[in-house]
Amino acid sequence: MKSDVAADSPEGFESARVRHEELAAEVERHRQLYNRDDAPVVSDAEYDALMRELMALEDEHPVLRTQDSPTQAVGGDLSELFAAVEHAEPLLSLDNAFGEADLTAWAHRVTTEVPDATYLCELKIDGLAVNLTYENGVLVRGATRGDGRTGEDITPNVRTIADVPHRLKDNDRYPVPEFLEVRGEVYMSTSSFERLNADRMADNERIATANAERAKEGKRQQKLLPMYANPRNAAAGSLRQKDAAETAKRALSMTVYGVGARRGFEPTRQSEAYAALAAWGLPTSAYWKRVSALDDVKAYVEQYHERRHDVVHEIDGVVVKIDEIVNQRRLGSTTRAPRWAIAYKYPPEEVTTRLTNILVSVGRTGRATPYAVLEPVRVAGSEVEFATLHNQDVVRAKGVLIGDRVVVRKAGDVIPEVVGPVDGARTGDEREFVMPSNCPECGTGLRPMSEGDVDLRCPNARSCPAQLRERLAYLTGRSCLDIDGLGYVACAALTQPLEPAMPPLADEGDLFDLTMEKLLPIKVVVRDPDTGLPRKTEDGEEKVVSFFANDRGEPKENATKLLANLEKAKSTQLWRIVNGLSIRHVGPVAARALATEFGDLDAIFAAEEERLAAVDGVGSTIAAAVRQWHEEPWHREILEKWRAAGVVFTEEPAEGVAKNLIGVTTVITGSLEGWTRDGAAEAVRVRGGKVSGSVSKKTSFVVVGDSPGSKYDKAVKLGLPILDVDGFAELLENGPEAAMEKSIGDAG
Ligand code: IVH
Repeated sequence: MKSDVAADSPEGFESARVRHEELAAEVERHRQLYNRDDAPVVSDAEYDALMRELMALEDEHPVLRTQDSPTQAVGGDLSELFAAVEHAEPLLSLDNAFGEADLTAWAHRVTTEVPDATYLCELKIDGLAVNLTYENGVLVRGATRGDGRTGEDITPNVRTIADVPHRLKDNDRYPVPEFLEVRGEVYMSTSSFERLNADRMADNERIATANAERAKEGKRQQKLLPMYANPRNAAAGSLRQKDAAETAKRALSMTVYGVGARRGFEPTRQSEAYAALAAWGLPTSAYWKRVSALDDVKAYVEQYHERRHDVVHEIDGVVVKIDEIVNQRRLGSTTRAPRWAIAYKYPPEEVTTRLTNILVSVGRTGRATPYAVLEPVRVAGSEVEFATLHNQDVVRAKGVLIGDRVVVRKAGDVIPEVVGPVDGARTGDEREFVMPSNCPECGTGLRPMSEGDVDLRCPNARSCPAQLRERLAYLTGRSCLDIDGLGYVACAALTQPLEPAMPPLADEGDLFDLTMEKLLPIKVVVRDPDTGLPRKTEDGEEKVVSFFANDRGEPKENATKLLANLEKAKSTQLWRIVNGLSIRHVGPVAARALATEFGDLDAIFAAEEERLAAVDGVGSTIAAAVRQWHEEPWHREILEKWRAAGVVFTEEPAEGVAKNLIGVTTVITGSLEGWTRDGAAEAVRVRGGKVSGSVSKKTSFVVVGDSPGSKYDKAVKLGLPILDVDGFAELLENGPEAAMEKSIGDAG
């Protein structure tokens, strides 16, 4: 933090000392919570930020860097659950680089001292460090890192990990040494972590149901199982069980990344040590890479940043080491970390923030979904303010209360998730969420989606403002009528205007009857796009504007555009109309299948259920839903109103296009010059081909544009035929055999 007082003045030093004292206490508390208690209350990134501030203060005022500063410590105190054991050689930590500049600075320091150094790049696994000791090839001890010198003896627990050999494999090239310390990371794969939390969630459901019964009988409540916030905590919690039989039930893995004290083994390179460790049957990584140029290190860092989720475990960065042991010795270590290695940290995908409220939204099918309102926080490069909580059982099973500090993750895909509360951060002011019994938008009593379902829905499908708004937004959106000028706000304006009292759309049946006369009087409350709250005028009144008219009462551009685009949409493709009807279970795939098969909307609704179910990509559930939808009188009215307005319900078969791709499945990845993604997919489909989102052995062709991503790698790995934009044109024009000639994969 910048202050007005010069840093080198006595006042400057005093304020730095006070801040240092505060920060050091704070960092120390978090270090212990993380290392000793497996119960961190802040995310790694928040911890790193505190540590960085502390280090910066110490760089400015070196006298503050005392022996007992947390910047000098390696791990945490030991818990009393396990016996203490001393490591034969200390387990050091790593210094961090938080960006290219830090990495370049480190490389510069290294190459100034050892100009001939080679870099060894590896993944930084997010788990916990473990030291294995082998005597004459026999595993005699497993220990946690502890404070770096003394760890906890967890030998029985480590023995339950399938990756850890109890005896090393002797071989001619690398005879088993007399004594060897092996260091590595114990972790839980992301899939095992998700399974473990899902199991706990299911257990919690059972506990909650049993607790309801127990409450009636006046019995004591059983505690809910806490969710693990991330795979690292799950691994630590699982490994440090007093009863090793508990550890054995958890799917733990290990990757080794170094050796400590040794007798009878003197590698000359880190990479040679890995070859020996692998030959002895120890689990080394498959991802390390030796490079000579810093640019190649940077490329490796970039590559795994993009592919961070293609690896089975979580990675929080890349570790760059110097490969030659002699160079490692020349560079040496501080008490905390080696100078010959650095951890390049990726931006966090997990943070903590406050859950300020739990609200309920109603979607286009009427499903009432609780969602978390969060104090805005940046996660993995974007700001998160809301996260779905699915239903009241999930809220209960996650154990979150309104007002809690919560862990928010955005792992894997783009959807943020509230993992659970930060234990130990409660103040007593938090309150439980109660699912409302009535729809928050229209007041109708909520009912289960279907009998016995935990999910609730608002049954007022036709006129619940929320459902109508959401259906309309879907109908006019990209995968349906694709009406430019009719975005979400316009949908709200057409269904819930402040004026006129009767909205121009009673339901979506009125969409094509919109006229300029109906649009011009529409007035809406202006809302803040970030908070959703009404904006106020200077007098404190809610700010109201005409949505489609200017100050002189004339049509704005949005009005003319909307009417013109509506006119065009009347003759859109049939599948887009089918998709836009919001029939349960019917998405773009089923809509296309139905449109292609019948070519006429009336024919779809006239067909017997069995006939519908027999269509490839439809099936009995969808067929029943189609029939049910059509049995509802107000649904049929929508169709009649649209027909009267001139909407075309038939599809002319695409003329002049040969069905030359029947039986061909393509995956399209990256941007194809001259094509939009939808356009390319459509071109395959009208020729009878299928477009899939994921590469598998069943894929016939992978069409690759610029910046293709991991699907391209998978295609190469599977040896599938790969087409560039020219090959794609060949496929469309002349079919699969001709395209094979132009393919660039192994099979081509
Ligand atoms: S080398 C003397 N390599 O990161 C160097 N550490 O933040 C010791 N870690 O304590 C560590 N993956 O628990 C090394 N490929 C890797 C690693 C790795 C994960 C952990 C390890 C270390 C921590 C430092």
